[in-house]
Amino acid sequence: MSLYKRALIGFTAIAFVSISTGASAADAARGAQVYEEQGCNGCHAPKEALVGPPHCGVVGRKAGTLEGYPYSEVMKDSGLTWDEKTLHQFIESPLSFLSGSNMGYAGLYDEKDRTDLIEFLKTQRAAASPECK
Ligand code: HEC
Repeated sequence: MSLYKRALIGFTAIAFVSISTGASAADAARGAQVYEEQGCNGCHAPKEALVGPPHCGVVGRKAGTLEGYPYSEVMKDSGLTWDEKTLHQFIESPLSFLSGSNMGYAGLYDEKDRTDLIEFLKTQRAAASPECK
């Protein structure tokens, strides 16, 4: 095999590996951008209730359980816990997943955007993160 061909194969392999890890690794910094672009921050703050409930500690929390926030009945009664799976389902299409919720947001179709967004919630909005103390 010629040197040129070997180099080409090697290069293709490297490019493939970097592309595939790039696509699968959840990226919290990118998730922060998605959070803004999608307007989540227009209704959700880390610690205060705005239109929506505060997001600190949301991953791992039982849905609709923050004291003092006026959740819809369907959210309170959902029995859900917010983990990666339920967050993907809810954010993809809030009203088809939880019909009767009063979260006025149409949904985020792109799976990679949702993955990064959830990574952002898991890190920057974790109860122990600096902005949540
Ligand atoms: C127009 C305002 C609005 C926007 C935009 C919005 N939300 Fe909400 N969100 C709400 C409201 C209101 C609720 C409470 C819904 C209920 O009680 O049915 C809520 C609830 C939630 C909950 C459940 C919280 C809990 O304590 O159980 C999560 C998770 C959530 N939103 C994530 C998001 C994400 C992520 C985005 C951006 C993709 C977003 N929201 C955009 C208003 C909004």
